[in-house]
Amino acid sequence: MQTIEKDQDIMTFAKRLKYSTRTNHDSVDSQVMKSEPFANKENYIKFLRLQHIFHLSVAPLYQRDDLQALFPGLAALPRLSAVESDLRDLGVNMDVDSSLLASVTDPYQAIGWLYCSEGSNIGAAFLYKETQKLTFDEHHGARHLAAHPEGRALHWRKFVAQLDALLLTEEQEQLAVQGAIDAFTFYKKTLAALV
Ligand code: HEM
Repeated sequence: MQTIEKDQDIMTFAKRLKYSTRTNHDSVDSQVMKSEPFANKENYIKFLRLQHIFHLSVAPLYQRDDLQALFPGLAALPRLSAVESDLRDLGVNMDVDSSLLASVTDPYQAIGWLYCSEGSNIGAAFLYKETQKLTFDEHHGARHLAAHPEGRALHWRKFVAQLDALLLTEEQEQLAVQGAIDAFTFYKKTLAALV
């Protein structure tokens, strides 16, 4: 136990976020795979609707002045419009019951939600490959899973550097970790409601 606490002390903030939410991530990953999102078009549409609800929930965070001040360039990152284009490509109705959406107000918790949203683009490399089996790609149906023009890894490293430059208090970090856990929990709850 002592070693774990020591390790956490010397980790960067981004590493602490990863470490503290690893089991949450892995549980989301396995639940998503269990829903067989790439087995056929119908399952993929359910996955798109899940992604839509998640990205609709986080989209307002990318527009907040307080968060843009902490993460320069934030306003250019959200993938909501790409998810909506994917839905349009597949002819899916985009109406969402607003009671299904999450609403995040605390700025430090919001950092955790942004971590979850931006990090999901890393695993999306694997998901994007799977969509090719359904003949979708960055121009049709799987736009929101495509890599950032500068490449997934570089894009993620830049975001991680911004996280590590934040210099939060212990209490603020704890709120951010809680926000990330809440984001994964929300994703899982939404998946269960849709499947
Ligand atoms: C089947 C679905 C998914 C798979 C297979 C998957 C897979 C992965 C993989 C392979 C990584 C890289 C891990 C590493 O570098 O150590 C990753 C990172 C990440 N994923 Fe996922 N992922 C999935 C879904 C999601 C979802 C739905 C979210 C968020 C809602 C998410 C959030 C993240 C985050 C935040 C990271 C960054 C971890 C870090 O380095 O701090 N993933 N994912």
